[in-house]
Amino acid sequence: MAELAPTPPLGWNSWNMWQGRVDQDKILAAAKALKRHGLRELGYDTVVIDDCWSEPSRDSLGNLVPHKERFKDGIAALAKEVHSQGFKFGIYSCAAEKTCASYLGSYGFEEQDAKLWAGWGVDYLKYDYCFAPTDQATAIERYTRMGDALKKSGRDIVYSLCEWGGRAPHLWGRQAGGQLWRSTPDLFDSWVDVWVDPPGYYGMGVGSAFDYAAPIAPYGGPGGWNDLDMLVIGLKGKGAVHGGGLSQMGYRTHLTLWILACSPLMLGCDLDALGAEELDWLKNAEALAVNQDPLGIPACRVRQQGHGEVWAKPLKDGRVAVGLFNRGSMGLDIDLVAAEIGLLDKAQPVRDLWKRAEAGELAGKRSVRVQPNEGLLWTVGEAKKA
Ligand code: GLA
Repeated sequence: MAELAPTPPLGWNSWNMWQGRVDQDKILAAAKALKRHGLRELGYDTVVIDDCWSEPSRDSLGNLVPHKERFKDGIAALAKEVHSQGFKFGIYSCAAEKTCASYLGSYGFEEQDAKLWAGWGVDYLKYDYCFAPTDQATAIERYTRMGDALKKSGRDIVYSLCEWGGRAPHLWGRQAGGQLWRSTPDLFDSWVDVWVDPPGYYGMGVGSAFDYAAPIAPYGGPGGWNDLDMLVIGLKGKGAVHGGGLSQMGYRTHLTLWILACSPLMLGCDLDALGAEELDWLKNAEALAVNQDPLGIPACRVRQQGHGEVWAKPLKDGRVAVGLFNRGSMGLDIDLVAAEIGLLDKAQPVRDLWKRAEAGELAGKRSVRVQPNEGLLWTVGEAKKA
C-alpha cells in the first residue's frame, strides 16, 4: 500500500459553495478550473464531493445509489473523468444512519460502502459525525470500523475524519486509520465566531483558529494531519459558511496560519470567483512548500505578546518558517527571538515569502511591525543543500 497523505492534502471540496446543489458538472468544472488556474501543477490534486450526492434509499442489494438527476452518469464515470483530468477523486459519508444534511450515512454498511467506493475509483473519503452518539468511545469505534473497511477495500483511500475535534481525534485518529482529522467546528467566512441560528451552534472565525491549532500542533505529521477545515478564500459572501467576510489581509493571514499548521488546503469556493491576488497567494510556490515540507512538523506557537503571536516550523533544509501574527485591531511591534525559534544568535538571512523578497536578517532578536489582522510568513536561516 502506498503511504497515504505524506504531506497535507491540497484541492477542492464542494460543500461550502454548493451544498445540495452539487452535481457532476460542477465537480468536473472544479477539476478543470484547478487546471486552468495552474493550481493542479502546484499540487492541488484532490477534488471531493461533500454531502448530498446520493438517492434517499439504498438499492435492492443495499448499495448506495448516486443521485439520479444530479449525478446522472453515476459516480464511477465521474471519477474516471476526474482522474483523466489528473486528479484524485473524493467522496463523503457519515458514521451514522444519516449525514449532516440528512442523506444516507454508512453506519452498519462500512465494508459494503468501502468496497463500492473502491470499485468506483474513489481515492479519498471525508467521514462526518452528525446524528452519532457524542461520547469518545463510540466515535473511536465507529471511525475504526470505517478505517478497517477502507483498508480491506482493495484501494488506497485517504481517510478524512470529521468529528470536529470535540473528542480529541488527534489522539486516536491515526489508530482509527485516518490520515487527517477535523480539529475545529465549521470555519465561517469571518474573522470572529458566528452564531448560526438555526440550528444553533458556533461557527469558527479565522481569529479563533489560532487557539484550536496551537495545543494540537505536536500531534500532526506525515500521514496524520490536524485539519482546520476548508479554506474560505474566494467565497465572497456566498455559500454555507457565509459570515461577515474578512479583509484581504485577513484572508492572507488565514492562509498563512493554515500553511504553517500543516492543515490540508482545500478550497471551497467557486474557483472562477478567485481574484488575481488570491490566486497569487495560492500559487506562491515558496509558501506552499512550507505547508508541504517533507518533515511535516506543524508550527508551534512560541510567543504570545499582547495580541501578537510568533509561530515557528522547522523545515527539512534547516531553515525555520515563521509566522508573525497580529490578532488585534491596532498595529503592533512583535519580538522575533532566535532562541525561541530554535536558532542560534548569529546573523541569519530572512526572507518574506508573501513579498517574495529578502527582508534583512535576524541576529538574536528583532522587533517586527505587524499590522492589524496581518500574518507575515518568513523563513529564517540559510537553506542547506540536500
Ligand atoms: C458538517 C461538516 C461540513 C460539511 C457538512 C455537510 O457540518 O463539518 O464540513 O461536510 O457537514 O453536511
